[in-house]
Amino acid sequence: MDHFTYRDGILHAEDVPIPQIAAAVGTPFYVYSTATLTRHFHLFDAALEGLEHLVCFAVKANSNQAVLRHLACLGAGMDVVSGGEYMRARHAGVPGERVVFSGVGKTREEMRMALEGGIRQFNVESEPELEALSEVAASMGTRAPIAFRINPDVDAGTHEKIATGKAETKFGVALSRARDLYARAARMPGIEIVGIDAHIGSQITDLAPFEAAFRRLRDLVATLRADGHAIRRVDLGGGLGIPYRQQGNENRPPLPTEYGALVRRIFGGLDVEIEIEPGRLIAGNAGILVASVIYTKEEGRRFLILDAAMNDLVRPAMYDAHHDIVPVAPPPPGAEMRPVDVVGPVCETGDIFARDVPLPPLAPGELVAFRSAGAYGAVMASEYNTRPLVPEVMVRGNQFAVIRERPRLEEIIARDKVPEWICTEDS
Ligand code: LLP
Repeated sequence: MDHFTYRDGILHAEDVPIPQIAAAVGTPFYVYSTATLTRHFHLFDAALEGLEHLVCFAVKANSNQAVLRHLACLGAGMDVVSGGEYMRARHAGVPGERVVFSGVGKTREEMRMALEGGIRQFNVESEPELEALSEVAASMGTRAPIAFRINPDVDAGTHEKIATGKAETKFGVALSRARDLYARAARMPGIEIVGIDAHIGSQITDLAPFEAAFRRLRDLVATLRADGHAIRRVDLGGGLGIPYRQQGNENRPPLPTEYGALVRRIFGGLDVEIEIEPGRLIAGNAGILVASVIYTKEEGRRFLILDAAMNDLVRPAMYDAHHDIVPVAPPPPGAEMRPVDVVGPVCETGDIFARDVPLPPLAPGELVAFRSAGAYGAVMASEYNTRPLVPEVMVRGNQFAVIRERPRLEEIIARDKVPEWICTEDS
């Protein structure tokens, strides 16, 4: 459920008509609903009620500080994967003890930044990383709290580019090596063991892979405790999928309540604190991308050419992902829905959002919206084709605010520096 609904035929974000934002900000733009963010955060929080837990929002899904601040005020922790994300989370007011640091390639500088600023735990993904972390922490006279990210070797049944739980991926350490690694970590001067961690993939639409992974983690908790390690926390990662289609066929993902029941069934009574790292489920359906029609074109096929492109929302080009595309204003009475290919202006055949989308006739300047674009939308945008990053807008009730401005072309161009020796005679 989200808060992007039609009133008198016009698409609204909460109480704000989308055309009103378009008139103020120009297109394309992303718009987020605070009410949907709140709702989704509470769904997870409630689903884990009865278990000691912390919901750590995966910042990579949407890293705008207004979004982070809103979630932090609700009590969320954050899962970060870079020094930049760590800094964003802290700037947004998230205390260090609620920030988890994941990722296969943390640098020593990033480790130092987090240790200085305060960190809940590092999810360590390799032995060399463990050694580096111990050295950095010891040199600062402290110990880094760690969980190893365990690769449970389960197939999450999702798109191959976002499946992370199989042995052949770059993620985590093998279950079979866990005991040795924990024994080593326990002897290191700069390390404090606090838990275990896993993350098996994203947009997972079935509970079975979660269950398989969780059972392995539960068994590992028992084994490690028997070895004498104080395993206090289990981080289950993120990955629960969302519905991307309002109509039609789709693997309906399990509800957070069903996911919560599974977690309770497997970890209840184990006396551990549960951490989860949902990104998509909190932010995905809390945002849409709004674009204008530039031209319609008929050359064998019918094309709707928008002012948004693959650089603004890369998911269709990158993962063949589906986003519902809907008109913002009502069609004229009796208008026929006809299939069109919805494309952007970027000079690549891959710059296509979807084929044969049934849409009413749309004239240049009319608005369309891509649903479910709040996660992995704005954060994955680029300036390819020297197209400015799309602005982001946040709505709460009947108010809205620009939470990231569209950069001016002059600012973008000014970032390049041309050395004085370019085009000199001897070049
Ligand atoms: N924790 C870790 C360690 C992760 O790597 C991820 C996502 C999450 C949590 C959050 O997963 P979520 O709850 O959002 O599924 N760009 C892709 C998705 C990449 C996900 C990467 N890791 C997409 O647009 O589908």
